Amino acid sequence: MLKAIGSKLNLLRDQKAKDYYYLVSDLLDNELVLKMKEFTHHGDTTCFQHCLNVSYYNYRICRFFSWNTRAAARAGLLHDLFLYDWHTYKPDKDKGERLHGFTHAQTALKNVRENFYISELESDIIGKHMFPLNITAVPRHRETVVIVLVDKYCGLLETVIPRLKKAENAFLRIVRGRRSA
Ligand SMILES: [Fe+2]
Ligand SMILES: [Fe+2]
Repeated sequence: MLKAIGSKLNLLRDQKAKDYYYLVSDLLDNELVLKMKEFTHHGDTTCFQHCLNVSYYNYRICRFFSWNTRAAARAGLLHDLFLYDWHTYKPDKDKGERLHGFTHAQTALKNVRENFYISELESDIIGKHMFPLNITAVPRHRETVVIVLVDKYCGLLETVIPRLKKAENAFLRIVRGRRSA
């Protein structure tokens, strides 16, 4: 089953998701995209799941405004295709390498360009999704502004929701323990 965070739709099977699925089905079978399942991103969320979350909500917002849903969905699914564990990544300062947050959008864009055909709009969405941290990568398109916001929103949900669930479980264990005592 494939779901975006906060959504009950099974993106593989639900009729309501078929337009979204149609746009990204080839990418969902691609081995590089699937490789993102090997890396954790925020909290317990894998890089693949994070990209799926961003892709789906990019698509939903762009569909609402009648903007480019294809670019929104596909670039969303590819936007963090940097393919390493950023938690253990150590930039080599002697080689001029910089922290993950400043470089990974360009790393992902390079990987995507080497392995997929992408449009200028999709390049803008992927390469500039870390604005304003990457202050010179100013979005040129409204779909890029969408991913700038959706990426941060999904990152927040992916970090906060598992912690809330753990706190809720701990609370319920305490309450149930007191009742049975
Ligand atoms: Fe990113
Ligand atoms: Fe991201």
